[in-house]
Amino acid sequence: MQTNYSYASALAASQRINWRVEDIIGGEKRLDFDKPFMPEALARIAPLDSLSAREKLLLNQIRGHGYLYQFGLVEEFILPFVLDHARPLLAQDDLRTRALLRFASEEAKHIHLFRTFEREFEAGFGTPCDMIGPADAVGKAVLAHHPLSVALLILQVEWMTQRHYLESIRDYQGLDEQFRSLLRHHWMEEAQHAQLDTLMVEALAANCDERQIEQAVDGYLEIGGMFDGAFKQQAGFDLDALQRAVGRSFTAAEAERITAVQHQAMRWTYLGSGISHPNFLRSVQELSLAQAERLADAATTFA
Ligand SMILES: [Fe+2]
Ligand SMILES: [Fe+2]
Repeated sequence: MQTNYSYASALAASQRINWRVEDIIGGEKRLDFDKPFMPEALARIAPLDSLSAREKLLLNQIRGHGYLYQFGLVEEFILPFVLDHARPLLAQDDLRTRALLRFASEEAKHIHLFRTFEREFEAGFGTPCDMIGPADAVGKAVLAHHPLSVALLILQVEWMTQRHYLESIRDYQGLDEQFRSLLRHHWMEEAQHAQLDTLMVEALAANCDERQIEQAVDGYLEIGGMFDGAFKQQAGFDLDALQRAVGRSFTAAEAERITAVQHQAMRWTYLGSGISHPNFLRSVQELSLAQAERLADAATTFA
């Protein structure tokens, strides 16, 4: 592998960062419902010209709530997966054990952070938003796959978080300050997770032959397909929530356009931006050039 990632450097970086949930939300730190929560590059709401400015803002905030929920959902299966990966070798390498346990502990903190934001959202938004799930059933379905399939998915999620912040959020003006702070703090810790996931994928692939790598990529794409179906359903839920929040129904043509644009926006946010990340594809290339090409192709569906 051409990286200089190590358990020692991930552990050291994690110890330097170490923020607390209460530093980011709560007390005086409240969501500002006059501001958007998601950057336009991920929300893709500007092209929906049948919506008024107010309706666009509400849909943006519904998507922000979805982001909190989707990340909470994936982190709920990342946590046990990382603990299971750490456990068999706890006594073998102290730095590995400490780095992976910190990784798991940070994901537990992120779950807590996203849930705290969700409660803030629900208290302030005033309209209930239905969500795909339940999270534990989705987690069980994901974890039923080969560990390398799951590790690839997790690696993709971590790089995706890096891309969201650096490309779409850091320089985007006008975002709610608490949401920006949430995404920035998440990015800071996920940078170490991406490195540890890279090491995890390498370790899991070390004993796999070409056929087993192909099967692991099959499993990874199967999970991606499962999520894609769920995002289509979520786009419908978001439309219902928007109609409730604005107190009007859209025409069939408007509804069709909104859900199609929003489904594709979620595909990019949660799948395409990770699958097409150069560092993710580089890890897959190390396992198999053919499989990396296959994934680069698949990414075009989710652009
Ligand atoms: Fe996280
Ligand atoms: Fe993470």
